Amino acid sequence: MNPKAITTERDARVTRLYEQLVEIEQRLIPTGLHVFGRASELQEKADLLRMVASFERPEQGARALQRLVADALGVESYDALLHETSTSETRQLIDGVAADAVRQCFEHGVETAVDWLLSKAGVDSEESRPTFLLIAKVADQLDANNEIDSLARALRGEYIRPGPGADIVQNPLVLPTGRNTHAVNPYSVPSQMAFARAKHTADALLRRYFEEHGRYPRALALVLWGLDNIKTQGEGVAQALWLLGVRPVRDALNRATEIEVIPLEELRRPRIDVVMTVSGIFRDLFMPTMALLDKAVRRVATLDEPLDMNYVRRNVSEKIHADSSEFDDAVTRVFSNAPGNYGTNVNFMVMQSAWENDATLGDLFVTRKCFAYARDSKGRSVEGREARELMDDALSRVEATYQNIDSFEVGITDVDHYFEYLGGISKAVETRAKSRPSIYLSDSLSPQTKIRSLEETVRLETRAKTLNPKWYEGMLKHGFRGVAEIENHVANTFGWSATADAVDPWIYTEISKTFLLDPIMLNRLRELNPHSLQSLARRLLEAHNRGYWNPNEETLERLREIIEHFADRVGGA
Ligand code: BEZ
Ligand code: MG
Repeated sequence: MNPKAITTERDARVTRLYEQLVEIEQRLIPTGLHVFGRASELQEKADLLRMVASFERPEQGARALQRLVADALGVESYDALLHETSTSETRQLIDGVAADAVRQCFEHGVETAVDWLLSKAGVDSEESRPTFLLIAKVADQLDANNEIDSLARALRGEYIRPGPGADIVQNPLVLPTGRNTHAVNPYSVPSQMAFARAKHTADALLRRYFEEHGRYPRALALVLWGLDNIKTQGEGVAQALWLLGVRPVRDALNRATEIEVIPLEELRRPRIDVVMTVSGIFRDLFMPTMALLDKAVRRVATLDEPLDMNYVRRNVSEKIHADSSEFDDAVTRVFSNAPGNYGTNVNFMVMQSAWENDATLGDLFVTRKCFAYARDSKGRSVEGREARELMDDALSRVEATYQNIDSFEVGITDVDHYFEYLGGISKAVETRAKSRPSIYLSDSLSPQTKIRSLEETVRLETRAKTLNPKWYEGMLKHGFRGVAEIENHVANTFGWSATADAVDPWIYTEISKTFLLDPIMLNRLRELNPHSLQSLARRLLEAHNRGYWNPNEETLERLREIIEHFADRVGGA
């Protein structure tokens, strides 16, 4: 290689590294647990307000601060800038001014911030005021905390005013906390806004797959959750519709019960087959939406289009030819638990180390989730008919699995539900399709949607949370419970090894270094919560026994010592 090429390659690497650091740095993480009845802390509040200010909120007449600054500075296309690298100086300048403006508002009030932004970046006062008023209101509401009062009133049987269920950043109207959450009208889903956002996300997903494979996936498996679709007014639902190449249409009563096929000339890509597994909560809340999704697949399957542009039709005809299936069976794509049942139980099997062969985890997923919800060609409603073979067959064609992440508060290693669903279905696909699917998550948290592979997401979550002193020290302030949270994160990370083989060995190495091989930390954990400490050590040892990492003898010895030391201590208890 000539010296110039080496320098260019080196510069590119440094830039990529820098981008990753910025990504981790900018990731909003909870620094500690929410304590019931206690208002959020100062730094947490500042971070939240910065995020709140970065979204366009036409319904409240408030513009995103970054966009206001970009416009005032004469930056042509802020959107283009968002897709540029985070090392862009213009972007850093804009982000910096916006962050300082939020601080001004937070520390000195709305009018000071309005004047500051006018003098600093020439942003018109009338334009910025609504955004600062919103920030100030959110700041006040974060200070007020009615949770204990509301609980006491609820226990006395008094009325508690409901509020929307959402992420604070996505919809600040969820504040103040301490209210009942009301759901959404299922017929209103997906909203126009959700559909518009879903197009971006689903296109980014297809682009990513295409870049990696040189073609589109013939079928995708999607996980749809109830609370997520409440929060986003149905972004997950809209993504499924857009992948199929249809849009929702409202009937005379303004209910989204119909669909309209988007012509291939407009779509300019094949229609992607989608296998949808919806949670029990989704099924309970969104029955009409399940009917809409089922209707969309059926309509697409009957379109008179070339098979290489309509993968639903291709897969359905393939199945009919292969085993003389009925159309109604071959087209079944919406699955959930049996009526009255919830969850996959894959998380319990993993947590209790109760499996030997990986395939068992995927089989359990299908056992729990193979109940079909549809309306057949004769118009008869099918509500939770066991259809294991149909689900096995649909999954055998899947090449990628995907779930939309929509919350700042809960990520893929915070709870066991992400690996039970996305991990569970990925393992089910792996054995049925005889090939591990590409696994993706979207990050529709920030104004610019990001698609990441599962492996990238596990790395990011590990660096931003589990291994980040800001995160674990925040947890350790909560003593016993905090250690349990750290242990939970490790166990959930382990869940991604078990279901999807998606955890780099260095992650286990760094976890053991941070929490167990450092004698001071080890002592702190032992003092605060010896039970969780022991579980953590056991989990790391299990990760080794199952072949997820291969630590040196010394580390193994330490793990065993910690486990035995604990056994001695509680042995006589
Ligand atoms: C849901 O909202 O559908 C859901 C919530 C938690 C775990 C699994 C599903
Ligand atoms: Mg739970």
